[in-house]
Amino acid sequence: MSSPTSRPARKAVIPVAGMGTRFLPATKAVPKELLPVVDRPALQYIVEEAARAGLPEVLMVTGRGKSAIEDFFDRVPELETALEKKGDADRLASVHESTEVAQVHFVRQGEARGLGHAVLQASAFVGDEPFAVLLGDDLIDARDHLLEHMLAVQAQHGGSVIALLDVGRENIDKYGAVAVEPGTQTALEGDEVVTVTGLVEKPPVDEAPSSLAIIGRYVLSPAVFDVLRETSPGRGGEIQLTDALATLVERGEPVHGVVFSGRRYDTGDRLDYLKAVIRLASERDDLGPPLRAWLHDFVADLPAEGASSS
Ligand code: G1P
Repeated sequence: MSSPTSRPARKAVIPVAGMGTRFLPATKAVPKELLPVVDRPALQYIVEEAARAGLPEVLMVTGRGKSAIEDFFDRVPELETALEKKGDADRLASVHESTEVAQVHFVRQGEARGLGHAVLQASAFVGDEPFAVLLGDDLIDARDHLLEHMLAVQAQHGGSVIALLDVGRENIDKYGAVAVEPGTQTALEGDEVVTVTGLVEKPPVDEAPSSLAIIGRYVLSPAVFDVLRETSPGRGGEIQLTDALATLVERGEPVHGVVFSGRRYDTGDRLDYLKAVIRLASERDDLGPPLRAWLHDFVADLPAEGASSS
């Protein structure tokens, strides 16, 4: 069992082999992770989040059709020279940002056999230390500190830590769902820490242990690799990370949850993706003022039907 004194996590794993079918036909030729959220790929936000949390070593688990991701995190000398010649310092800086933010490595998954299988491809890179997993469909607002909180909980308690969000019972069948011990422990800037006592991947609504869903951030004990090697395909015929975590809990390894209270944007769903783009653009200094003014007029002209406040 990992102990609280084991070394802190330094590495992040980002699975990017998913097919992105919800964004077809755009994702026929462009990896979904590179679709822009305002003017930067969703994936760049994720890598920046890892770097901000003190995880500068990043491994992307890729698959076929994803080589544009490697290009994105690589230098482009011709483009840099052209921008330099033009004296376009701002754009040059934005091009540098993606290569300088972290040390990005790549490994191929080979076959798409599920999230657990993707994470298992990281075992040689990670070695025998705790590590983070960040899923690209969940954007966490840069002003909130979910991953930092999870790393602090892992450093304190050892074991593994998962990010949780109350999504309401009606939505729980789209997520990994957890059972937790009654009574919360501590709160970090509003994020509560709970002890996880069971996990199940995408349960039917009436069988879910709670309305607490796993959102795409994990800080995992390296013990998960041995469990993943023995984990049989589960929901959807895929090797599920949730099932491996359930086994860790059954074996008495601590798994904690950090119940997130901040801002999360789901860029894996088309409607939520549009909401994320509008929200983030409307808060920017450059685009915000004209966008907000336009939105104001646009909304005022909309017919009042099918309104939703979320
Ligand atoms: C994956 C996990 C699931 C988790 C979700 C968070 O599912 O298997 O447990 O709740 O990510 O986004 P996916 O969305 O890849 O189907």
